[in-house]
Parts: sequence; C-alpha cells; structure tokens
Amino acid sequence: MQDAKLAIVIMAAGKGTRLKSRRPKVLHEIGGKPLLSHVIAAASRIVAPGHIYVVVGHQADRVREAVAHTGVRLVEQAEQRGTGHAIQCAAGAISGYGNILVLSGDVPLIRPETIEQLWQFHQSQQAAMTILTAAPEDPTGYGRILRAAPGSPEVAAIVEQKSLAPDQLGLREINSGIYAFRTAPLLAHLGELTTGNAHGEFYLTDMAALLRKAGERVVAIEAADAAEILGANTIAELVSLDQALRAATAARLMAAGVTIFRPDTCVIDAEVEIAPDTVIEPYVQLLGKTTIGTECRIRSYSVIENCTLGDDVLVRQSCVLAESSVAGGARIGPFAHLRPESRIGENAHIGNFVETKKAVLGKGAKANHLAYLGDAEVGDGTNIGAGVITVNYDGVLKHRTRIGKNAFIGSDSTLIAPVSVGDGSLVGAGSCITHDVPADALAVSRARQVTKEGWAAARRARRQQSKAEQNKTKPEGE
Ligand code: UD1
Ligand code: CA
Repeated sequence: MQDAKLAIVIMAAGKGTRLKSRRPKVLHEIGGKPLLSHVIAAASRIVAPGHIYVVVGHQADRVREAVAHTGVRLVEQAEQRGTGHAIQCAAGAISGYGNILVLSGDVPLIRPETIEQLWQFHQSQQAAMTILTAAPEDPTGYGRILRAAPGSPEVAAIVEQKSLAPDQLGLREINSGIYAFRTAPLLAHLGELTTGNAHGEFYLTDMAALLRKAGERVVAIEAADAAEILGANTIAELVSLDQALRAATAARLMAAGVTIFRPDTCVIDAEVEIAPDTVIEPYVQLLGKTTIGTECRIRSYSVIENCTLGDDVLVRQSCVLAESSVAGGARIGPFAHLRPESRIGENAHIGNFVETKKAVLGKGAKANHLAYLGDAEVGDGTNIGAGVITVNYDGVLKHRTRIGKNAFIGSDSTLIAPVSVGDGSLVGAGSCITHDVPADALAVSRARQVTKEGWAAARRARRQQSKAEQNKTKPEGE
C-alpha cells in the first residue's frame, strides 16, 4: 500500500548506552544485517522510501552512510533528549502528512503485516494515537500499558518501567515503541512534553496521557506474536533476536523443502535462498546474499558468503567460499578455499587444500590437491596436478595465467605469469614454466635425472667404517 498521506518516522538517534559499544545501536547486526536495515525494509513495504524519515543523531554520519542506498530521508536530532524529542525534531518533516507511523530502530523483527494491522486499526478507531502492544513472558524493562478500563481498547497512559508504582508491577501489556498518530493532534500537543521523569528526557510515551487529557482518542492493539516486537537494548537481547531471526530463516527454508540438520548449529543470514532437496549439514554458515540450487549438499563446517551455487553441487567439509560462483555438478573440498571472483565451471573438481582467487575453471576441469590458482583461467577438461602454483605476483603487479582446454599440468609445477599453456598441452611434473607453451606440446623444465647404481650402499659402508675407527680411539668410560 502506498499512501502519500502517510509518512513513517524511524527513531534511530539513540546511543545504545546499555550495549556498551562504540558502534551506534541501530548499526548492530542481527541475521547479518544492521537493526535499522530490517526496520527500513519493513517500512518500505508500507510507504515509498521518500516518505520514510529516519531520525539520526549519535554518530549520524555512520548511520547516514549505512542507509544512503535505501533512498530514505534523514532528520537530524543533534542532541538525544528522548523519544519525544526525536519526534519534535521531525515535526517539520511530517507536518504535511495526515498521519504518521512511528517505528523504533531497535525493534527489528516487526513484520510489515503487523504494521499494516496497526495502521488499519488506527484508521478504524479514528484515534489520535494508536499503540502497538504485546504481552511477552517477561515484561521487565518495557513501558506498560494502563488501559482506561479492563478490556477497553482505550489507553489511559504508558508508564515507563522506572516509574511503575508497586501495584502496577503486575501489568503485563507492554509498549512496543511502535505507534500510529494523527499528525494534527500530535503536533498540537508535542510541545507539552516535559523532562520530569527518571531519565530527564522527553518521553514520546507521555503523549498517551497528554492526548487523552486533551480529549483525544488513544487506543492500543495487541500484536499476535510478542516475539516480533522485542527490542535490542543489551548484547544478550541482540543475540537472542539474532537467534530468533535465524530460526525463522531456517524454518522458512525447511518449509520450502530444504533439509537443515541441527538448524540450531547453523548460521544462515536472512537473505539466503536455497532450492528444495538441498541438504545443509550441522555447523554450516551461509552468509550474505548466498543462493544455492537444488540437490546440493553442504557438509559440516563450511562457510559460504555471497556465493551462487548451481544444482547438484557438493561442498565437502570445512570449505571457505567467498564472493564466488560454482556451477552445477561441481565438487568442492574438503578444506578448499575459493576466494573472491572464483568461477568454478560445471562438473569441475576443486579438492583438498586448493586455493583459488580470480580463477575461472572450465567444465570438468580438475584441481584435486594442494594447488594455488590465482588470476588464472583453466579450460574445459584440464587437469591441474597436485601442488601446482600459478605465480601471479611479481612483488608489485599481478599477472594472469591462461591454460587451454584438455591440458595436463604435472604435479608440483609452477607457472610464472604472465604465461599461457595451449589446448591439449602437457607440462611435465616439477616444471617451472616461464615461456608460453603452444597447443598440443610437451613442456618440461627440470634437471635430468642422474642414477648411480650401488652408490648409496658404498657410501653407507664407508661411513660405518669411519664410525668404528672413531669409537676405537675414544678414551675409556666416555
Ligand atoms: C522505549 C519506550 C518504552 C518501550 C520500548 C520498546 C520511551 C520513553 N520508552 O523505551 O515504553 O517499551 O521503547 O522497545 O519511548 N531514540 C532517538 N532519540 C532519542 C532517544 C531514543 O532517536 O533521543 C531512538 C533510539 O535510537 C531507539 C528508540 O528511539 O531506536 C527507542 O529508544 P530507547 O532508548 O531504546 O527506548 P527504550 O528505553 O527501549
Ligand atoms: Ca529500546
């Protein structure tokens, strides 16, 4: 739904004192993405980014940089004097809208469907203020909702944790920090907020009692799932939100036909996509924008970040893959390292302790053991022997190695780039290749073998005789 009459304000200026971190709170990550990015993503499903206003303050430059690509607008709150003050700073930006929704940058699990429900309820109730609430197991730390009467949709006040009277400690309904306001009454009374409270701040929550006193309608709607509106104020809370989000991601993938054994041990970022019939073994990390095809198997302890894997790919144990692509039917690992911009072709094999970087391997190419392929092209069907190294760096510049199709590079060869090996050529094991090799040739560059029969036995005999003579001349007792 796009409604130019509606703006969304996201409060994100706070420092996050309770995190004890130098990083601004809203840039702390869950599910591999900053808290604020989750909230912006949800808000963008309700209104266009041009109608989303993010209030920034603490380390505003870092926050601004992190959200620049989203197209949202920014409002400066130079001094952070509370949530009410954050909205006061946004007053100019929102005055042209009939209504606003207020979201908190540190309440990241909120779903667009729930925001939509709040907005619909707000309109149907013709309220000046509508508060999204929940009833979690443990309400400690949150503002509590004081209903006008039991069972009534109307709210008398929001009471912050520190201001709870003894008889209010039992109140279980909490304020989510997410609201809808009709802009006119909000702006008319926003200046009446005071700092006479435990924190000496302007509390947006005080608007509930203020508006009601002014004869405006203030209501609340309870979210079906309290887990969605939990805040991240401490590292422990942040980690538990991360866990909840990852559990939801794993559940989404499993519902779509992906097998994830021991999902509690896997770290899967929110944007990962996996086709059905793929199996993820325990202790796997799938990070960033990783996409995996069908019928793949990712074995334990592998970490895959921002990669695209085709269908029927096997990644064996303990591989590290970053910013790379692997085509269908390929076999990777165990203990392989694909560094950025590696492109592994269909049915290719990358084996134990093979490292690639900016390497393109063709269909069915194989590098099965202990190789380094950096800045290299390897044609279809070519076999790279154990211990082969493309020497890509001369201490200053990087150079490319080009190996054609169906070539065979013998074990322990070094290819000093820039250099090329033509289609169908063979490089003898232990060679150091410094000149281009044409197609269908043999290149060998190693010393000829010398064999002296009986030499070792004769040496052994000489040595043993010397030892016996030495022992004879030694003084007694030594
Ligand atoms: C707030 C609510 C509380 C509610 C809880 C839900 C108030 C006074 N209390 O408490 O009732 O249960 O959220 O999560 O609002 N911010 C600014 N500028 C400021 C201060 C804060 O932009 O000057 C931003 C923060 O970055 C944060 C959000 O507002 O994203 C909420 O602030 P926070 O200090 O975390 O409020 P809580 O104590 O959690
Ligand atoms: Ca908070």
